Amino acid sequence: MDEPMERLACHFRKPRPKVRRPLGAPVKPGSQQRARYEHAANKKEQGPNRPHRSQCRKCFPPRKRIFFADAPLACYLLLRPKWMEQKSDLDLRPAPQPGPFGRFYLQELINSGGMADIWLATDSAGKPYALRKLHHRLRFNFVARRRFLRGCEILSKIHDHEYVIRYIEHGKTGGALYCLMEYVESSNLKQLFSRGDPILHDHVGNILIDMAVALDHVHESGFMHLDFKPENVLVTRNANVRLVDFDLALPKPTKPIKSSKNPGTPAYMAPEQLLRQPFDHRADLFAYGSTAYELLTGEKPFAGDTPSEILRSQVDRTAFRTPRDLNPEIPAALEKVIMRCLEREPDKRYPIASVLVHDLETILYV
Ligand SMILES: Nc1ncnc2c1ncn2[C@@H]1O[C@H](COP(=O)(O)OP(=O)(O)O)[C@@H](O)[C@H]1O
Ligand SMILES: [Mg+2]
Repeated sequence: MDEPMERLACHFRKPRPKVRRPLGAPVKPGSQQRARYEHAANKKEQGPNRPHRSQCRKCFPPRKRIFFADAPLACYLLLRPKWMEQKSDLDLRPAPQPGPFGRFYLQELINSGGMADIWLATDSAGKPYALRKLHHRLRFNFVARRRFLRGCEILSKIHDHEYVIRYIEHGKTGGALYCLMEYVESSNLKQLFSRGDPILHDHVGNILIDMAVALDHVHESGFMHLDFKPENVLVTRNANVRLVDFDLALPKPTKPIKSSKNPGTPAYMAPEQLLRQPFDHRADLFAYGSTAYELLTGEKPFAGDTPSEILRSQVDRTAFRTPRDLNPEIPAALEKVIMRCLEREPDKRYPIASVLVHDLETILYV
């Protein structure tokens, strides 16, 4: 009888009436009860008049409550790095606002890509520039920062060319990395596709040649672009081309190199890149072939939602449709050029972009 009494005394300072169950009824088994009973016994050992302490963890476990109260904060701190990198469809962050940025004024957000916001910025003299600013959410992502800086440095080393975006400077303002480039009033090829812009139909030959010339210039300057795709080709109203986004660019190697990481857009990546095998500048020629195919047919050459599906359709070409299957207006010689760029084996593609330019000029300049 004393045992349950002691247990109750521990919980309620005032002892309850002695009889809580019929005399002689068995005490309920249960580990919790036993633990409390032992605890009560210990308390008795320390002296019956010992005042009850609120921090007695077995009677009032306050830590448990604190844990649950802190759970959202703990989860947030643990998951924050992942959230910072993810760009969900439901982005609740406020849109970046125009305003001063160092010696520039950010006038208007032109576009927001995977890595950066592109602003139309002006200096104190009102001269317009394109200011590429690394996303705020990537400010602590050191892979992204390194890539961004490497892209700026490579762009600064590529000699000025009319089909490659002109570099002005890069640096850091208030902890934010930026790259300043010439501003080109333009749309990228993907935007032109999606709105069915007539410029694509009217100037397709020039666009095809200029893209190849831009790629040739990058290779001649000693680099590979490695992210050649419609989003990274700007086209002005006069159908002038500018190649942008050198974040994934690498120095052109003398023999194929293997990379542990293969970032890029799978739909435009060469099979050797998707297979993580050694690759070189001919991976850019494959990406050129995919972009040209899409430009002429409105479809991607190799279907698939995942990199492995795309790779499967690149390797097993039974379902492959040639450009002329989709658009019979394409000259047979042009189809041959595109098919050569899309060869699975790099050795069967063009060895260098200047040969591609030569072939395109022969076919398209009548
Ligand atoms: N110099 C520029 N002038 C005008 N628009 C640009 C310029 N640079 C980039 N853009 C626009 O911003 C988009 C994203 O630029 P990009 O450099 O590819 O950034 P990301 O790495 O974030 O994809 C481009 O597709 C293009 O529409
Ligand atoms: Mg881009």
